[in-house]
Amino acid sequence: MSAPDADRDRPFDLVLWGATGFTGALVAEYLVRQHGAKAALRWAIGGRSREKLEQVRDRLAAIDAAAGELPILIGDGGDRASLDALAKQTRVVCSTVGPFARHGRPLVAACVEAGTDYCDSTGEPQFVRAMIDAHHERARATGARIVPCCGFDSIPSDLGNLMMQEAARTGHGAVCGEVRHYVSLRGGGFSGGTAASMVELAEEATRDPGVRRLMADPYALDPDHGPGPGGLDLQGVKWDADLQRWTGPFVMAGINARVVRRTNAMLGYAWGRDFHYVEGMSFAGGRSGFLKAAAMSAGIAAAMGAMAVPPVRRLVARRWLPASGEGPSKELRDRSSFRSRFIGVLAGSGARMHGTVAGVGDPGYDETAKMLGESAVCLAHDRHATRTEGGVLTPASCLGMTLVQRLRKQGMTFDVT
Ligand SMILES: NC(=O)c1ccc[n+]([C@@H]2O[C@H](COP(=O)([O-])OP(=O)(O)OC[C@H]3O[C@@H](n4cnc5c(N)ncnc54)[C@H](OP(=O)(O)O)[C@@H]3O)[C@@H](O)[C@H]2O)c1
Repeated sequence: MSAPDADRDRPFDLVLWGATGFTGALVAEYLVRQHGAKAALRWAIGGRSREKLEQVRDRLAAIDAAAGELPILIGDGGDRASLDALAKQTRVVCSTVGPFARHGRPLVAACVEAGTDYCDSTGEPQFVRAMIDAHHERARATGARIVPCCGFDSIPSDLGNLMMQEAARTGHGAVCGEVRHYVSLRGGGFSGGTAASMVELAEEATRDPGVRRLMADPYALDPDHGPGPGGLDLQGVKWDADLQRWTGPFVMAGINARVVRRTNAMLGYAWGRDFHYVEGMSFAGGRSGFLKAAAMSAGIAAAMGAMAVPPVRRLVARRWLPASGEGPSKELRDRSSFRSRFIGVLAGSGARMHGTVAGVGDPGYDETAKMLGESAVCLAHDRHATRTEGGVLTPASCLGMTLVQRLRKQGMTFDVT
C-alpha cells in the first residue's frame, strides 16, 4: 500500500508531534519497532525542545540504529507560524500534545489550512466540539481529514461498534438498532498529560456553562447536536441479562459514546436515527461483582464531585497527580490489559450478536500507542481504502474496517460471534 504520487511532493508522510511526552515517546517507539525508521514510511519527530527530542531519538536508535537519522522538527503549540510550516511539510500529523483544549487548537487550524491529515490521542469532548465548530466546513473544502480520539478513547468503542454493524449487515442483512458495550480493565494507571486533561475539563466545566451543557448532552458531537433517542450515559449499577454480568458507569464513556453517535451521523445515519448506544464497565455476575460495580459507581461520582470543587481540584493536582512526562511503569503496563464486550440487538428480529475487542497491553499507553500509530499510518498509506473527503471526522467514519484490519494484524482482537 503506498501513498498516491501526487502526495509525494511533501518531504514527510508523517510527523509525530509531542514525541517527548509520555505517550508520544511510546508512539515513537511503536513506529520504530513496527514500521521501521526509514523504509516505506518517511517520518519525523516534532516538538518544542530540540534537546529533549535528540534524547528521544537516541533512545529510539538503541532499538533500531536507523532511527538515529530521524529528522527533528521544532515548533511551539502556541506559535501558529511554526505550526503552519510544520503542517505544510507532511501529509499527516499525529499529535500527543495535550491537554488538547489548552495546546491543540492552533495545530488543527494549521493542518486544516494546509490540507494535512491529522489524528490525535485526545479524550476531551469540549476540544472535539470546538474543532468541529471551527473547522469542519473548512476541512471539507481543503480536504484535510481531521480525526481526533484515536487512542483508547475512542477506538475500541468506535471500531467495535462498526465491527458489530458490519457483521449485522453481511451476516443478517440488517443493522444493530442497539449496541451495548462494556469494558473490563486489568491493572492500568494514568500519566501526567491524562491527569492534566481531566483537570482542564473540570476547570472549563466550572467556569463555562457551555461546557456543562455539552457534558449533559449525549449527542454533543453530532452535527446538529441531536437530539436522538438515547438518554445519558450509563449511571449506577445495572444487571445485563444478555451478558449475565453486573454493569456500572465507565469514566471514558463521556467521550466514547458521543464519538460513536457522531460516526452514525457522519455515515448518514447508517444505523438509523434511533440507533441506541450504551457504554459502561462490566463486572462478574455474583455478589462480589455487584459490590465492585457499586464501588466503581460511587468512586466515579465522588471523584467527579471532588474535581468540581476548585480548592480540592487544585490540591489533588498539586499533591497527588503525576507530572508531565510521568506515567505508569513498564512493569505495571505489562500487567495491564482490557477486554470490551459488545452486545448487538438486530433491528427487527431483536436477535442478539456478541462481539469482543481486546488488547493485551496497557490500554491507555501501549495499546494507545498501537491504535494511534496505526491510525496515523492508515491515514498516510491507505487513502484508497478509507474516506477521502475532508472534515472533522471519527476513527470509524474515516478509517473504518481498514484500521480494524491493521489492528488485528498487530495482535488486537476484533471478533463477532
Ligand atoms: N485517549 C487515550 O486513551 C489517551 C491515552 C494517553 C494519553 N492521552 C492524552 O494524550 C495527551 C498527552 O498525555 P501525556 O501523559 O503523554 O502528556 P505529557 O507526558 O505531559 O506530554 C505532553 C507533551 O506535550 C508537549 N507540549 C506541551 N506544551 C507544548 C507546547 N506549547 N508546544 C509543543 N509541545 C508542547 C510536551 O513537550 P515537552 O516535553 O517539551 O514539555 C510533551 O511532549 C493528554 O491529553 C492525554 O489525556 C490519551
